[in-house]
Amino acid sequence: MTEAILLVGGRGTRLRPLTVHTPKPMLPAAGVPFLTHQLARARAAGVDHIVLATSYLAEVFEPYFGDGSSLGLHLEYVTEEEPLGTGGAIRNVAGRLHSGPEQPVLVFNGDILTGLDIRALVRTHETTGADVSLHLTRVTDPRAYGLVPTDATGRVTAFLEKPQTPEEIVTDQINAGAYVFRRSVIDTIPAGRPVSVERETFPGLLAAGAHLQGMVDSTYWLDLGTPAAFVRGSADLVLGRAPSPAVPGRCGDRLVLPTAEVATDAKLTGGTVVGEGACVGEGARISGSTVLSGAVVEPGAVITDSMIGAHSRVGRRTILTGAVIGDGASVGPDNELREGTRIWCDAHIPAGAVRFSSDE
Ligand code: GTP
Repeated sequence: MTEAILLVGGRGTRLRPLTVHTPKPMLPAAGVPFLTHQLARARAAGVDHIVLATSYLAEVFEPYFGDGSSLGLHLEYVTEEEPLGTGGAIRNVAGRLHSGPEQPVLVFNGDILTGLDIRALVRTHETTGADVSLHLTRVTDPRAYGLVPTDATGRVTAFLEKPQTPEEIVTDQINAGAYVFRRSVIDTIPAGRPVSVERETFPGLLAAGAHLQGMVDSTYWLDLGTPAAFVRGSADLVLGRAPSPAVPGRCGDRLVLPTAEVATDAKLTGGTVVGEGACVGEGARISGSTVLSGAVVEPGAVITDSMIGAHSRVGRRTILTGAVIGDGASVGPDNELREGTRIWCDAHIPAGAVRFSSDE
C-alpha cells in the first residue's frame, strides 16, 4: 500500500486573478475537475490512500469526490484553520497517515500537470535510501524558479532562491512539486505554524546532513499557475500530450462532452473542450481553448487559447485570443479581445466595443 498527500490549499487556490468562480483544483481540465487527473494518476501508480490537505476549500472537494471509492481510492480531507504553507500542511495531516516510520509517503503539489513516472520516483527513493526524494524537471528559463542542483549521483547539494544574475543560474533543474518523504521525516516538521518545504524544511534537512535525492524526469510538466497555463494544460490532456487515465473519451483534437451542441460546420481543433450543455454556433472556429458548461459561442466567433467561463456568451464574429471570459459574462458581437484580457464574472461587453486591429 502506498499513500499520498495532495496539497490543494494556500493563497493561489482560487485561480486569482482569474474571473472564473470555480476554485482552481475543481476547474474542469479536459472535462473533469483538474484534481481528478492527479487522483487518477496516483491511483494508476498504486496509491490507494490520499489525504487532501486544504486550507479552506474542503466544502467543494468532499461533495464531489466523497470517500474516493469511485476512483478506487480511500480519500480523506483535512482543512487548516489558517494556511500553514506547504510544509505545515504536510505536517498537519501526519495523524491521518497509516505508514510506518520507515515507509515512503508521496506528496504532490495540487497545481502541477505532469507525466511523472510516480513508481520510478518511489523506486529511486527506496534504492538510494534517501530521507526525501524530489522530482526535478529541467526548464529553459530557470529565472522564475528556485534551483535544485545535484551531484553526479543525483543527490541534492543545495536549494537556491530564484536566481537574480546569470552567474547564479548554476543549473536548469527545478523542484517539480512531487516528493517522497520517509514517514519519520514528516514528523520532524514543526507543527501548528506555517512552514515552507522549499524555504525551510528542505534547506534545514540538507544543513543537518540528511540525504535528499533528486530524480530528473523530463516528461511532460506544466505549472498551472496562470490561466493561460491552465488552458494549455487542458488542451494537452485532450491531445494526449499530458497523460491521464481520467480524460473522458479518446484523446484527439477535440473533446465534446455529452449534451453539448456543436454546429456541424464549426471547427474545433488543438485540444479544445466543449463542456456539458455548451453550444457552439455555425462557422465558429475554436482552437486550444476551454469552453465551460452552459456557455454559448455564437456563429462566426473565432476563439484561440482562451477560457470561456460557465454560462457565458461570446457574440457573433467576436475574436478572442488568449482571453479569459468569466462565468456568466457576455461579450457582444464584433469584439476583438487579445492576450491577457480578463472579463469579470457576469460583466457585459456591448457589441463592437473593443478592437485591436486597424479600422481598415
Ligand atoms: P510555501 O512553500 O509554503 O511557501 O508555498 P509556495 O507558495 O511556495 O507553494 P506554491 O504556491 O507553489 O504551492 C504549491 C502547492 O502547495 C499548491 O498545490 C498549493 O495549493 C499548495 N499550498 C500552498 N500553500 C498551502 C497551504 O498553506 N496549505 C495547503 N494545504 N496547501 C498549500
